[in-house]
Amino acid sequence: MGRVAIAVAKMEKIIGPSKPIFIGIAGVGLLMLLLSFSPFTSYPNMYDVAKMTVTPKKDGAATNDCTTVSYQGLKLDHDPANQTFYDDQTQSYEIGNSGNNWDTKRREWLEHHPSFATGAEDRVLLLTGSQPEPCKNPIGDHLLLRLFKNKVDYCRIHGYDIFYNNAFLHPKMVSWWTKMPMIRAAMLAHPEVEWIFWVDSDTVFTDMDFKPPLEKYKDHNLVVHGYYSKVYEEKSWGGVNAGVFFIRNCQWSMEFLEVWAEMGPQTPNYEKWGQILTSTMSDKTDPESDDQSALVYFLLKQKETLGKKIYIENQYDLSGYWFDIINSFDTISDNYARIEKGVMELQRRHAEKVSEHYAMVMKEAFSDGGGGKRPFITHFTACSPCSGVHWGYTDEQCWGGMEKALNFADNQVLRNYGFVHPDLLNTSYLYPLP
Ligand SMILES: *[C@@H]1O[C@H](CO)[C@@H](O)[C@H](O)[C@H]1NC(C)=O
Ligand SMILES: *[C@@H]1O[C@H](CO)[C@@H](O)[C@H](O)[C@H]1NC(C)=O
Repeated sequence: MGRVAIAVAKMEKIIGPSKPIFIGIAGVGLLMLLLSFSPFTSYPNMYDVAKMTVTPKKDGAATNDCTTVSYQGLKLDHDPANQTFYDDQTQSYEIGNSGNNWDTKRREWLEHHPSFATGAEDRVLLLTGSQPEPCKNPIGDHLLLRLFKNKVDYCRIHGYDIFYNNAFLHPKMVSWWTKMPMIRAAMLAHPEVEWIFWVDSDTVFTDMDFKPPLEKYKDHNLVVHGYYSKVYEEKSWGGVNAGVFFIRNCQWSMEFLEVWAEMGPQTPNYEKWGQILTSTMSDKTDPESDDQSALVYFLLKQKETLGKKIYIENQYDLSGYWFDIINSFDTISDNYARIEKGVMELQRRHAEKVSEHYAMVMKEAFSDGGGGKRPFITHFTACSPCSGVHWGYTDEQCWGGMEKALNFADNQVLRNYGFVHPDLLNTSYLYPLP
């Protein structure tokens, strides 16, 4: 039990409020915003574009415009010589050393990279991945490809960055524990993002329009799908779902990852933690220590401290249970089609890049009544596409369900390209939109 005491003591260290670190940068941000609308920046304007001529000599050659101001005004080629945490050789990317003052170090990096400081407070990196080896399930790699494509689609539509990792960053942190070293490393690699959005590979974004309400989580550092009563009354290890969550890029999270990881297979106390978790949870039968039970354990033992920084979300499907969802896709599609028929603007064709505008119009139309909303994320819990193992379900239920969810999501994407899958269970059948 010594380790428990250590873990708890460590947790107490990290309960202080995490202050927003962007106050000092707001002024710079505003300046950058103004600059980007001034005529002195290097954006080509319509007049310049009209004057452009394509000459063979110039084709493919990088112009000054492309190299200095890139996508969304971010200066991708600007890294001044000023020292940052990257120059500190003691700053580790690995689990096992939480370091200190990460919030200050991150803020300093942003001060040296003002184009990234603008909008940093709600910038998101989506992080996901799978094993390094080919899948055992014969259709596993195909499913993983489609599951990844779905995440790429979602990120492209909302301007999120995505990192797909298929390397185990810690040799012993396998299965559920792989994400911790990945998140840890991603926090250092991406000081420009406020949130890491971890999503397991077996999830499908089934509402391409929905954007998580990040402003709602301003006082929290970890956002996970779950139910208060299942955690605090039932003490169920299913009280939260640890396969999808937002974690803030801050010192608190670095220390939280350390404490969380202390229950993992790379520690000598792995077995003991398995026993503690199994005896604490009312319904855990698997004797192995797992990340999700560990999270419920922290919520139970540290409710007033650590728990205060964890938001248990259930106002939307941050992690919707697939089995309850997949049979409603056809009805939901019909519901959206009916709403669209009643709103002229929603029938208008548009560029994919401005999808968020139409998402807002649709949201308005919905608030006039009517259930049957698309679930944000459909999580295929207990169907492991790569290994092919599924607990309590058939192949047809798991892989058929995934195909249906993927085509349901793909219809929301393909619409902007002029096509639709009329039959959610037939992926190759595509029809041009009228
Ligand atoms: C970065 O380094 C340059 C050159 O030494 C210096 O002029 C500048 O003030 C530094 N910037 C900050 C924010 O410290
Ligand atoms: C899928 O649709 C295509 C094109 O209509 C058709 O040829 C094929 O038989 C369908 N496959 C299944 C499994 O229904």
